[in-house]
Amino acid sequence: MRKTIVELLKNAGGDFVSGESIAGELGISRTAVWKHIQKLREHGYEIISRERRGYRLKDAPDLLLPSEIQIGLDTEIIGKEMEYHPSVDSTNRLAKKLAYHGAAEGTIVVAEEQTGGKGRLERKFFSPRGKGIWFSVILRPNFLPHEAPKCTLMAAVAVAEAMTRFNMKAEIKWPNDIMFNGRKLVGILTEISGELGKINYLVIGIGINVNISRDDFPEELQTVAASLSEICGEEISRVKFLRAVLEEFDKLYREVNSTGFDNVLKRWRKFNVTLGKNIRVISAGDGGETFTGKAVDLNSDGALIVETDNGLRAVYAGDVSIR
Ligand code: BTN
Repeated sequence: MRKTIVELLKNAGGDFVSGESIAGELGISRTAVWKHIQKLREHGYEIISRERRGYRLKDAPDLLLPSEIQIGLDTEIIGKEMEYHPSVDSTNRLAKKLAYHGAAEGTIVVAEEQTGGKGRLERKFFSPRGKGIWFSVILRPNFLPHEAPKCTLMAAVAVAEAMTRFNMKAEIKWPNDIMFNGRKLVGILTEISGELGKINYLVIGIGINVNISRDDFPEELQTVAASLSEICGEEISRVKFLRAVLEEFDKLYREVNSTGFDNVLKRWRKFNVTLGKNIRVISAGDGGETFTGKAVDLNSDGALIVETDNGLRAVYAGDVSIR
């Protein structure tokens, strides 16, 4: 209901819209319209009201509300359904619960803050209120479970493409960290529910540091984390950036569904900063074995091929640091 009111006000392009026409459009009373307007103001919408002329939208908040994200969003699958939370422990946890109960493919769960953000390898993920984009996407792909890791690469490419739209250079460290000067801007955590030969659902959680100044990070993160605003030298609209990511994600995912992952892998290579480098690998399998070598290739499964003293090794999951 409120989303439609915002849509009507936005479509008026800065002109007044009468309370009567909004009421007529929604099939509710003018008093009910007024109550919704009050709620929207509480959410940060600046709405001017004038007797006999109605309501005019002066400004919208930089909150990741459905009324900001979904109106005019150019996607076919991703973000058609959306759940918004001012605060949640982890959008991935919530998305998994929704997926388990049958939420539609493409549903996104977005939060202004996470109190228990989850990173890979059981780490915590710093997710302060209003300063980043913390969200999860539910996918129900038809391909086989062993293809799932490539969806993580796809998500990284989607964010990288969105950064390109904002004139920022994206650097992807295998498999899916997006970096700036060796510090991490974006983390991605993919979780899967499946059985032999079938994916039930995937939850791809993406955390983007958008407007976090260096001092805002806890001390232990200050040398390893960065934020998009640091690259641009100014604050970035989280709303605009999330919309760009969703549109790029949607485009790539539809392409993957029709022609496979070739283009994702090609785009990933373009953005990657790992291939050709000497690296240290903490493998997620093999009891967390650590080894060093040179990253020489990405195979068609998205695994990193590392040249070691004992020959080539394919790494399917793990953590890499560039030496
Ligand atoms: C990593 O780099 O270790 C992965 C970080 C993933 C963080 C995102 S934020 C949104 C989603 N919800 C979570 O709890 N984690 C992911």
